[in-house]
Amino acid sequence: MKKLLFIICIVSSAFIVTNCDDTITVVDVDSRIIPDSNISYSEHIVPVLQAKCYSCHANGRYEAGLDLSLHTRFVDGRIVVPGEPETSILIWTVEGRAGFPPMPPIGAAPSLTENQLEGFRKWIEEGAKNN
Ligand code: HEC
Repeated sequence: MKKLLFIICIVSSAFIVTNCDDTITVVDVDSRIIPDSNISYSEHIVPVLQAKCYSCHANGRYEAGLDLSLHTRFVDGRIVVPGEPETSILIWTVEGRAGFPPMPPIGAAPSLTENQLEGFRKWIEEGAKNN
C-alpha cells in the first residue's frame, strides 16, 4: 500500500512539473489577440519573439549578431527605431519586403500573423517601450 502511494505521488508530481512548463508554443501565441493600441512589450511582443525568433536570436545563438531577447540589444535605432516602424529593419524583415531576408526564414517557423504584424508596427509607433 505504501509503495502504491509512493508511485502515485511520483507520477502526480511529474505531471505537475510538466504542467508548469511555460514554453510558449506557436499555436498559443497565434491564438492571442494583440490589441490595436497600448501595446505592452512584455505581454504582447515578447511571447511572439519567444515562439518565432528566439530559436535563432537568443540563448547563445545570435544569427546575424542579433539578440532579440533583450530590449536594449535590438531597440537600437537601427533594428527597431522607436516611433518609426517604416525605418525599422525588423519590420522590413517580418513583412518579407524585397531585398531583405524574410523573418522567420521560410520553413523555420510560421510567419507573423496579420494581427502580430499590426501589433509590432503599433508597438514601435508608440515608442517601442520596454513596458
Ligand atoms: C531559423 C533561424 C532564424 C529564425 C527563427 C529567425 N531568424 Fe532572423 N535571421 C536569421 C539569419 C540566418 C539571419 C541573417 C540572414 C541574412 O543576412 O541573409 C537573420 C537576420 C535577421 C535580421 C536582420 C539583422 C540585420 O542586422 O540586418 C532581423 C531584423 C531578424 N533576423 C529578425 C528576426 C525576427 C524578428 C524573427 C522572428 C519573427 C527572426 N529573425 C527569426 C535566422 C533566423
